[in-house]
Amino acid sequence: MITAYKRISFFGLGYVGLSTALCFANKTFTSIGVDIEEKKVRRIMGGKVPFYEMGLETLLKDCLDKGTFRCTTNPREAVMESDISFVTVGTPSQPNGNINLRYIKLVSRDLGEALKEKSNCYLVVVKSTVLPGTTLNNIKPILEKYSGKKCGHDFGLCFNPEFLREGNAIQDVLNPDRIIIGEYDIKSGDILAEFYRNFYGEKTPPIIRTNIPTAELIKYASNAFLATKISFINTIANICEKTPGVDVTTVAKAIGLDKRIGPHFLNAGLGYGGSCFPKDLKALIPYSKKSGYSPELLETVESVNENQPNKAVQLCKKFLGALKDKKIAILGLAFKPNTDDVREAVSIKIINILLADGAEIVVYDPAAVENAKKIFKERVKYASSMYECLQGADCCIIVTEWEEFKALKPEDLIKHMRTPALIDGRRITDPELFKDRVKYAAIGFGPKIVS
Ligand code: UGA
Repeated sequence: MITAYKRISFFGLGYVGLSTALCFANKTFTSIGVDIEEKKVRRIMGGKVPFYEMGLETLLKDCLDKGTFRCTTNPREAVMESDISFVTVGTPSQPNGNINLRYIKLVSRDLGEALKEKSNCYLVVVKSTVLPGTTLNNIKPILEKYSGKKCGHDFGLCFNPEFLREGNAIQDVLNPDRIIIGEYDIKSGDILAEFYRNFYGEKTPPIIRTNIPTAELIKYASNAFLATKISFINTIANICEKTPGVDVTTVAKAIGLDKRIGPHFLNAGLGYGGSCFPKDLKALIPYSKKSGYSPELLETVESVNENQPNKAVQLCKKFLGALKDKKIAILGLAFKPNTDDVREAVSIKIINILLADGAEIVVYDPAAVENAKKIFKERVKYASSMYECLQGADCCIIVTEWEEFKALKPEDLIKHMRTPALIDGRRITDPELFKDRVKYAAIGFGPKIVS
C-alpha cells in the first residue's frame, strides 16, 4: 500500500516550478516554493508573479488566500514540511553548449543537508532538463553525500520531465498528454505514479514508467523532434517561396491532415527561439558526438534555424535596397506570443543584423519591451502601440504572431508608413488582402504565376 503524499515542495520558482506548484496547490495538495532569490520570494508572497504567464497571478492569489501555497528561501523548512520535493531550477547553456549544472548541484546539496534530519521516507523528483546520466552520476551522489543516507533505501529518486509551454503553462499542467516517470527503484516510481493519479483522477494521462536515463533522453528527443518539425516546414517554405503560385500554409494544412504527420507545429516562420529548443539541441548534439555518433539530422535542424531569420533581412533588402538610414518597424520581440521572454528570440538576431546594416529600428511588443530594453538599450526606439511603430517606417516586419497584430490592414500601412511594405515572418496576414495594395512578402509565399 502506497501512502498518498500530499505535501510537496518545489525548488526553483521559474515558470515551470511556480506554475506547477500553484496548479497542485489549487487542488488536492499543499505546496511550498523555494528560491534562492529573496526578492523573488517576497514578491511572490506579495501576490505578484515575477514573469508574464497567463492566468498565473490569479491562481497565486487564490492559493495564498486559501493558505495552500507559500514560499521561502529556506530549503530545510520546505523539506521538513513536505514529503516530495520537485527540482525545477534552470539548466542554462554554457558557451560551449554544455548545460550549466550549478543550480542543480546547489539544490541537490541543500536537499541532501535537509534530508539528514528527515525520518520518514522522502522522494526527490528532478524535473529540470538534464542530459542522460546526470541524475544518477551528479545528483544522486550529492544527495547521498550531504544526507549521509542511501538512495533507494532512505529516500527515493525519480526523473520526471516536464513538457510545459511558456504562455500555456497552466493548461499544460492540468492537461498533460503523458507523464514520464524515470524511477531509481520501483517504490520511488510507485509513489510518484500514485501522486499523479491522486491529482488527475479519471483524467490521468498515460504514464510511462522507465529507468532514469531513458526519461532524461525522452525530454531531449521530444524537443528535438518538435524543432525538427519546425525546420522541416521552414525548409518547405523556402522551396515554396521559389515556386510560382505555391503557399506553404496550404501545403502545411494538407500534409497535416495525414494522421502520421499531424497538424501541429507546422507553422512556417522565421525559426524557433526560446529558452528550450536552441539550448537542448546545443546540448544534445555534442553529447551524442562525445558518445561516438554524429547526429547530422539535428545539426541540419540547427543550421536551418540559424539561417531562417536572415530571410527577413534579405526580403527587406529586396524591397529597399541598401538599408542605411532606412526606418524598419519590428512588430514582436518575444520569442513567441503570450510571453515576455526574449531569450534566444528571433527578433534579437534580426534587429542586430539590421542595426549592423545601418538601419534605424523601431520596435513594438505587447509584453516584452522591458526585457528587450535590457538588450538593446538606446540602440532602438520603443513604440507604445502597433500604429506608432509603423509611423514613418520604410518597411515593417512581423516577427512574433501576437493576436493583436492579426488586425493589421493594408490601410494601416498606407496611412502610417513612409513606404508601405510588409514582411510577414509568421504568416498571420492574408496575402490576398495585401499583395496588390502594398509591397508584400511572406515566409513560404511563392511569386505570382506568369502564364
Ligand atoms: C517548448 C516545448 O514545446 C515544451 O513542450 C517544453 O516543455 C519546453 O520547450 C521546455 O523544454 O521546457 P516553449 O519553449 O515554451 O516550449 O515554446 P514552444 O511553444 O514549443 O515554441 C518554441 C518556438 O518554436 C517558438 O519560437 C515558436 O515561435 C516556434 N514555433 C513553434 C514555430 O516556429 N512554428 C511552430 O509551428 C511552432
